[in-house]
Amino acid sequence: MDYAHFDTSAGERKSPAAQFNVPALSPALAALRKSAFSRLIPTADDETLCFLLAQVSALRPSSILELGTATGISGIAMLQAAPSAVLDTVERDERFYAEAVSNFGAAGLSHRVNAHLGDAAEFIAENRAAYDLIFMDCAKVQYVKYLPRLVELLNVGGVLIADDVLLFGYVSGETPVPPKRAALVRHMREFLDALRADGRLVTSVLNIGDGVSFSVKKNN
Ligand SMILES: C[S@@+](CC[C@H](N)C(=O)[O-])C[C@H]1O[C@@H](n2cnc3c(N)ncnc32)[C@H](O)[C@@H]1O
Repeated sequence: MDYAHFDTSAGERKSPAAQFNVPALSPALAALRKSAFSRLIPTADDETLCFLLAQVSALRPSSILELGTATGISGIAMLQAAPSAVLDTVERDERFYAEAVSNFGAAGLSHRVNAHLGDAAEFIAENRAAYDLIFMDCAKVQYVKYLPRLVELLNVGGVLIADDVLLFGYVSGETPVPPKRAALVRHMREFLDALRADGRLVTSVLNIGDGVSFSVKKNN
């Protein structure tokens, strides 16, 4: 099966700590992930997944929102790390969505997942739920647009984790920005500026994988 989305891990940044970050996954999930990589399906790299699962284990969220399901690998990993959590996850690609639904079922997690087929912007606009954790891993160019609504959807003390915020080193200035990526990089810098400027959040931007932002909603 071919997909419109490709695994970009070959071009992604790796921090010097990456060699020590290998996620401990169930054999079934590890096999699913290996198959995803071989089929060029996008999914979180080792370093990012280790960070995400460590945070999920510490936070012990009851409610998780994921924007960008792909085939459900990060969703399954988060639910396995947080046994009392339920997950809302949104994917706009029909084939990924169908595969994710099947993967959630095979993992015995269907009763803890609300998988939504559609656009993340529409989902968050209409959604009235409140989340302990939001993992944003969809269209990078939209992050800055989604941020205000995501802060509203977070519980106080809740955490927003956004993946790929350093984008191959373009955003951090490590790598020259190709002209076709200029708008994307501008939007991502705007997103990082908006995180920093938002008085409701306390944020740390981390040199993990392709760059991860970690923001906690304060009680103010
Ligand atoms: C990097 S992949 C997600 C990987 C997944 N979180 C994992 O680690 O296994 C990004 C996904 O977001 C989806 N996506 C991109 N823009 C979207 C949007 N506006 N609404 C919903 N899904 C979107 C893509 O189709 C793609 O499957």
